Amino acid sequence: MAAALLSASTLTCLRMAAAEEPAGNGEPVAKVGADWQSWRANNDVADLPSAQRGARNFVSYCLGCHSLQYERWSRLGQDLAIPQRLLEQDLLPPGDKATQYILTSMPAADAATWFGKTPPDLSLMARARGRDYIYQFLKTFYVEPARQTGVNNLRLPTTAMPHVLSELEGLKRAVFREVASRGADGQITRSQVFDHFEQLAPGRLSAAQYDGFVRDTVNFLDYVSEPTQTARRALGVWVVLFLLVFTWLAWLVKREYWKDVH
Ligand code: HEC
Repeated sequence: MAAALLSASTLTCLRMAAAEEPAGNGEPVAKVGADWQSWRANNDVADLPSAQRGARNFVSYCLGCHSLQYERWSRLGQDLAIPQRLLEQDLLPPGDKATQYILTSMPAADAATWFGKTPPDLSLMARARGRDYIYQFLKTFYVEPARQTGVNNLRLPTTAMPHVLSELEGLKRAVFREVASRGADGQITRSQVFDHFEQLAPGRLSAAQYDGFVRDTVNFLDYVSEPTQTARRALGVWVVLFLLVFTWLAWLVKREYWKDVH
């Protein structure tokens, strides 16, 4: 009986949510984002053009708050095959030199006052949190007017970071559904569980383009978190080949030595 009542109230709640939906063109809306936890970055550090686009994205949208304190501009240019002229013209902030580290111009103390938290350095973020984490983080911002930044995030709830990419992605809201569960003591507890996203306003990019934008950005951060990884993997193949050839030579020598003994 209680279960029937509960499911009835959940249904009413869902219907109310549905009634609030902005009038669309009548077509059923796909439940976007219901599977956000399984979103993968699927980036490829060896994909140089993608990493180059990611570097451009980082400079345009992240460097205002975040640093990459372990990477120099010149190293970035070298690894990502960005000619010195383009590096200075398009990426380097005015007044910075290529030999300097990639540092934000935002003073840490001001950042702490403005956001309540200092934006963390992103040099090692892809290794600390994982590529998929950053991908999901940048794709699960949603409007929540009560918050100071006007947004919240599924990956990092109550994050202090504003949705700096909203101009590209547009604005979306999160639709929650109520779930009732019976605890060990028989008490019924209700909680709000994320159901799906609803686009409120379009951005400059389509959904697929935005995914690409985020993937490139994550790819760049993945490269920065270990700049030598592509070279290391390429070298690894040669090392294994060398060891195989060497084993064969050693075996030949052994056979030669033992020939007389047997
Ligand atoms: C307006 C300032 C600002 C800009 C621009 C900005 N961020 Fe942030 N970012 C923050 C703040 C503040 C935090 C700390 C959030 C927290 O801990 O709640 C943060 C945290 C993060 C984190 C760490 C999340 C965690 O789990 O601790 C990542 C990753 C990140 N930002 C990525 C980016 C990327 C990528 C960009 C560019 C597309 C970007 N940020 C642009 C302010 C900014």
